[in-house]
Amino acid sequence: MTEQLDLIHRPRRLRRTAALRNLIAEVDIAPRNLIRPLFIDEAASGTRPITSMPGVERWSLAALPRIVEAAANAGIGAVLLFGVPDEKHDDGRGAWDDAGVVQRAVRRIKQVAPDLVVITDVCLCEYTSHGHCGFVPDGAPENPVNDASVAALCRVATSHAAAGADLIAPSDMFDGRIGAIRRSLDGAGFSHLPIVSYAAKFASAFYGPFREAAGSAPTFGDRRSHQMDPRNGREALREIELDIEQGADIVLVKPGLAYLDVLARARDRFDVPLAAYSVSGEYAMVKAAAANGWIDERSIVLESLTAFRRAGADLIVTYHALEAASWLRSR
Ligand code: PBG
Repeated sequence: MTEQLDLIHRPRRLRRTAALRNLIAEVDIAPRNLIRPLFIDEAASGTRPITSMPGVERWSLAALPRIVEAAANAGIGAVLLFGVPDEKHDDGRGAWDDAGVVQRAVRRIKQVAPDLVVITDVCLCEYTSHGHCGFVPDGAPENPVNDASVAALCRVATSHAAAGADLIAPSDMFDGRIGAIRRSLDGAGFSHLPIVSYAAKFASAFYGPFREAAGSAPTFGDRRSHQMDPRNGREALREIELDIEQGADIVLVKPGLAYLDVLARARDRFDVPLAAYSVSGEYAMVKAAAANGWIDERSIVLESLTAFRRAGADLIVTYHALEAASWLRSR
């Protein structure tokens, strides 16, 4: 004899078949939501592996068309460029060199795949010999100076714009840089170019593998005088608000999975397009566990991407973008 409970509400009714589950699913992921970071390595010939990020390589300018064509064919939303210059300087001047590694990469990509959206990361940390995101004063080397660094970032942004970037993405977290970059772009004839602001970027241990990839670990100190304290969620909303006031067209929360609360709160509060960045450490953890056979990589990645969408992200920056796009197509 089967017992029957006297229930009105049975949420399982809508989970009974795959077709019913699909009918009521709240969110989807599509390749167009995904952004793939690309490391462009000025000194490499061909590609160079990144030990802590299996499956992600640093690409030389000569080899770049191969990955760019793969990205275009995968139908992903955009690529996000990071430069790995062969020479670093105290002031990071390679970052605003019109013949710099990112500027050349943008021009090359526009020849190979003119319709692929190209976003450029704007920061000095990959270009400074000390690895800090801006100029460091002698007295307090752990506190990069704000306003002079912002002026340098403005030069970087206009130089990327002149090379043909579609979107400019400042990742430094200095005060006032969105407004300053907006004015510089406008003054240089790029008032049509949107800015993706890394608006709520936390000082995070999850960036470890990236710093190997980009050779950008600070040689002294850390980034806690400008990136946010992981304890602060309300402050993140304040940072996002300031960046929107200053003209950010898209705002980004970073890292990803550990900061979904910030993402969800930002979604409630703001109506601009919202991006999440699933960072290098998140990628490395998934790859390491998958390599040991401890998790199913494909399921873990698609579930995580779904979580970003559910929390409110329109766009997700992920090193898994190309694999995820092919998994989504074969589903
Ligand atoms: C540059 C920058 C960093 C990342 C993106 N842009 C590193 C940092 O702030 O140290 C990290 C991305 C990742 O870990 O995948 N400022």
